[in-house]
Amino acid sequence: MKTSILYISPNGTTRTTAQMLADAFRQYKHEVHLVNIGKSPYREDPKLILEQCKQSDLVGFGSAAYHMNMLDPMLNLFSLMTAQNQSFSFKAFFFVNFGGITTGKTFLRCAHIFQKMNIPIVGALKVLAPHFHHPQPFPTQETRTTIRSFVDQLEIANFASMSNQQIKQQFKPYTPKTHLIFPFIHLIGKTRELPIEIDHQACIKCGKCIRECPLGAIQQSDIVSIDFDKCIHCYHCAIACPQDAIHCPVEKLDAMMQSNIKIIGMEQPGNQYYLSRS
Ligand SMILES: Cc1cc2nc3c(=O)[nH]c(=O)nc-3n(C[C@H](O)[C@H](O)[C@H](O)COP(=O)(O)O)c2cc1C
Repeated sequence: MKTSILYISPNGTTRTTAQMLADAFRQYKHEVHLVNIGKSPYREDPKLILEQCKQSDLVGFGSAAYHMNMLDPMLNLFSLMTAQNQSFSFKAFFFVNFGGITTGKTFLRCAHIFQKMNIPIVGALKVLAPHFHHPQPFPTQETRTTIRSFVDQLEIANFASMSNQQIKQQFKPYTPKTHLIFPFIHLIGKTRELPIEIDHQACIKCGKCIRECPLGAIQQSDIVSIDFDKCIHCYHCAIACPQDAIHCPVEKLDAMMQSNIKIIGMEQPGNQYYLSRS
């Protein structure tokens, strides 16, 4: 079976999940292609990703959850797929790493797009992951077990498709609160993005932030600058900079996440998968 695992992971935990999924599928003798859609050449040419999908029997789409949603590059890829008006013959699953607040309506929204395209959905996985500011170990043993079990169960079910009714029932947000206030909280999250500033005195133009930005939003001419139309405020540049020349108040981000947890609560369980019940 040809399996592609596509992912976007600013701070690396979704990449680890993708790698673990790839290892598990390889043990079932899948020919696995692991694709970071945030990196060259896929970032510059998303059509290459569609080519990769067309050559696959099974495609896993993985993203970190930011602002209760999948990240823009993944959503843009879905838009490109719908806009192309082509038919695809692979089956799909989704996976999301999230900070414990909520995955929002991520799965349901993704599922609707795929239902429109008549792409069968075989399952979804969510993984609780620490935010970069928290040095908790990742993955935990529980994470490993969940990921492994997800792949085992997909194999046992022979990649049976979820019915429309199952998708509607199983992919619903965990708290009715989230369900009600989703657009509102999503907007608040976006408007509370923290400023990112470059200290041009400290910057040595090493290019690390440019190479590592998951959106290709940083460029260098005389000075290094960020294109805030593309930036998703993942703050990976600030973490990656060896000179501490990129500043953002990450402690405020922590406070923001804590206050979101107070408003919405923590989504339980953290690690979980959804499969066809047939
Ligand atoms: C700007 C921003 C927004 C976030 N929004 C959410 C969210 O809505 N729900 C959530 O549970 N976690 C949220 N997180 C936490 C990330 O989902 C979590 O850190 C995840 O592990 C990141 O995956 P990565 O390591 O692949 O980048 C957010 C993090 C950032 C920086």
